[in-house]
Amino acid sequence: MATYLETTDSPSSGETKDAHCSLQSVVAALESLNTAPDLDQIYDWLRRLEISREELQPYIGFKDGNYWRHRVCRNDFVEMLVLCWRPGQRTPIHDHNGSHGGVKIVEGLLWETIFTYDEEAGLQYKTARELTCGSVTGSDVPDIHQLGNPDISGQDLITVHVYAPPLGVLHTYKPGSAKIDLYVPDDTDAS
Ligand SMILES: [Fe+2]
Repeated sequence: MATYLETTDSPSSGETKDAHCSLQSVVAALESLNTAPDLDQIYDWLRRLEISREELQPYIGFKDGNYWRHRVCRNDFVEMLVLCWRPGQRTPIHDHNGSHGGVKIVEGLLWETIFTYDEEAGLQYKTARELTCGSVTGSDVPDIHQLGNPDISGQDLITVHVYAPPLGVLHTYKPGSAKIDLYVPDDTDAS
């Protein structure tokens, strides 16, 4: 059963672990890993992440045709990406092929649609929701979803993603169909 979490970036206690973290400190934590972090750890980093515009600047860039992925760091266990979305841009319906991960909305508005799948019924709509700036969401395995910046948002969307292990070839799905295709995220411009 997929696990999804939605929260705002508001520490629930005064413990040190809830202190805000810069992008630089989260990246340092990711780069020091020698095993893949679990989902709770990823959520914790993303909830505490307070990214300044200056830190974000090297990873901001938009394309007309599709959302743009900018890689912040990657090793054998984990990767971090910043995705930039114009209104109307969205992912295919996909899963993460065994990776788990979390997403933080840094600017703008994210729509997420969640699906279920079985071989007889094919892909079925499950639920949808809207996530606002500061929210953290994510998914355990298995998970099938579509993310996007809605046409009517009228604003750009910037999101930070952490996946463990790093994404490779993903599966894509079509509503009402049992057919599963393969999808490689466009890393042409990811550094
Ligand atoms: Fe995804």
